[in-house]
Amino acid sequence: MTGRRKSVHGEWSSRLAFILAATGSAVGLGNVWRFPYLTGESGGGAFVLIYLLCVAVIGVPVMMAEIMLGRRGRQSPVNTMRTLAQEEGRSPSWQYLGWMGMLAGFMILAYYSVVAGWTLAYVFRAGAGVFDSATADGVASIFSGFVSDPERLLAWHTIFMVMTTIVVSRGVKSGLEQAVTFLMPALFVLLVALVGYAMNTGEFNQALHYLFHPDFSKLTAKVVLDAMGQAFFSLSLGMGAIMIYGSYLSHTASIARTSIIVAGMDTLVALLAGLAIFPLVFAYHLQPQGGPGLIFKILPIAFGQMPYGAAFGAAFFVLLVFAAWTSSISLLEPIVTWLVENRGMNRVKASTLSGIGAWLLGIGALLSLNAWSNHKLLGKTFFGILEYLTADLMLPLGGLLIATFAVWRMSEESSRSELGLGSWSYALWRFLLRYITPIAIGLVFLNVTGLLTLFVH
Ligand code: PFF
Repeated sequence: MTGRRKSVHGEWSSRLAFILAATGSAVGLGNVWRFPYLTGESGGGAFVLIYLLCVAVIGVPVMMAEIMLGRRGRQSPVNTMRTLAQEEGRSPSWQYLGWMGMLAGFMILAYYSVVAGWTLAYVFRAGAGVFDSATADGVASIFSGFVSDPERLLAWHTIFMVMTTIVVSRGVKSGLEQAVTFLMPALFVLLVALVGYAMNTGEFNQALHYLFHPDFSKLTAKVVLDAMGQAFFSLSLGMGAIMIYGSYLSHTASIARTSIIVAGMDTLVALLAGLAIFPLVFAYHLQPQGGPGLIFKILPIAFGQMPYGAAFGAAFFVLLVFAAWTSSISLLEPIVTWLVENRGMNRVKASTLSGIGAWLLGIGALLSLNAWSNHKLLGKTFFGILEYLTADLMLPLGGLLIATFAVWRMSEESSRSELGLGSWSYALWRFLLRYITPIAIGLVFLNVTGLLTLFVH
C-alpha cells in the first residue's frame, strides 16, 4: 500500500493552482444560471436555506472525501476506485462509481454546452446594443425567438463544445491557472457591480426578504431534492471531477482548508448572482419562476438601461463564458483520462471522441427546447430529463457512494494519514460522512420516490 503514488498526468504547480482549478470547475453556469432559476422556481428562501445547509454539512465533507480519494489513487476515477478498493481489500465493483461519474459528466456536458452557447450568443447581442432601452417584454421575446431557432442554438453549442475539446486535448493545466487567476476575480467584480446597480435601481429589500426569509410552506420534497442536487452540481461533486483534480494535488496541501475555500467562493458567487437578479425581477414585476431562461430574460434589461450597458453586458457574458469553460473541461476530463489510461489513446483523440459524443447528446437537448418541445416523459423535456437524472439523482448518489467508501470501506488509518487533520476535526468529518450524509441523502431520495409516505402512514 502506498500513500505516495505519482500521477501519470502530472501535478499542480502549487496548492493555489489546485484551488484555482477546483474553483474554476465549481464556479460556472451552476452559480449564475442554475441557482437563480431554481431559487425562483422553488419560491425563494426555503430553497436557499436548504441549499446552504447542504453545502456546509454534506458538500464540504464530501468534497474532502473526493479530493482525498483522488490524491490517494492518482488516476482516472474508475482506476482510482479500483486501485483503492484493492488496497483496502474491498470489492472491485467500487470502480462502477467511476463509471457512473463519467456518464454523469458526459450527460451534464451535453446540456451545459447548450446553455454556454446561449451565453456566447449573448456576448454579441449585448455588445451590439440589441438590448439598448429594451423593455422587459422585448428582452423576453428576444430570448424566446432565439431558443426556438434550432440552427442558431446548434451553431453556438458546436462552438462551445469545440472550445472545450481543444482545451482538454491540450491537457487541462496549461492555461487554466491564468484563466482562473484573472477572469474569476473579474467576474466577481462585475457581479458585485451588478448587485450595486440592483441595490440602487431594483427592489433590493424585497429580494433580500425573498432570498433569506424562508417560507416553509414552500418546502416540498422536490424543493429539498433540487436544493441538494444543486449543492452537488454547483460544487462539482459526486462525479469524479474534483477527484481527478485532487489526483494532481501535492501531498503537502491541506485538503480541509482547500475544500472550505472552494465551497465558500462558490457559494458567494451564487448568492451574488441571486442578489443581482431578484431585485430586478421584482422591480419589473416579473415572475421569479422564469425557468431556465431567467437570467437571459432579466440581466439584459439592466444592460439596456445602465450607462455603457452594451460594453458592460458584453464583458459580463464573456466572463460567464470563461466560467462555463473552466467548468466544462472538468466535466470531460474524467472520461478523457480514462480513455488515455485504459484505451491507450492520446489526449487529442480521446477528447475529440468524447466531445463528439457529448455534442450529439446536446443536439437532443437543444431540439427539446423547440422542435421536440411537445415530447415529454413524466412532464419533462429531454433537457429536463438530463438535468434531473444528473443533478438530482446521479450526483447525490455518487456523493453518497464516495462518502460510504471513504468512511466505511477505507481504513481509518488511511483516511487519517491522507487528510492530516487534528483529532477533533477528523472526528467531525468522519461523523458527518458516516451518519449525516447517508441519512440526509437517503431521506431525500425516499421522500421523493414516495417511499417514505409508505412508512409514515
Ligand atoms: N459546478 C459547475 C457549475 O456550477 O457550473 C458545473 C459542474 C462542473 C458540475 C463539473 C459537475 C462537475 F463535475
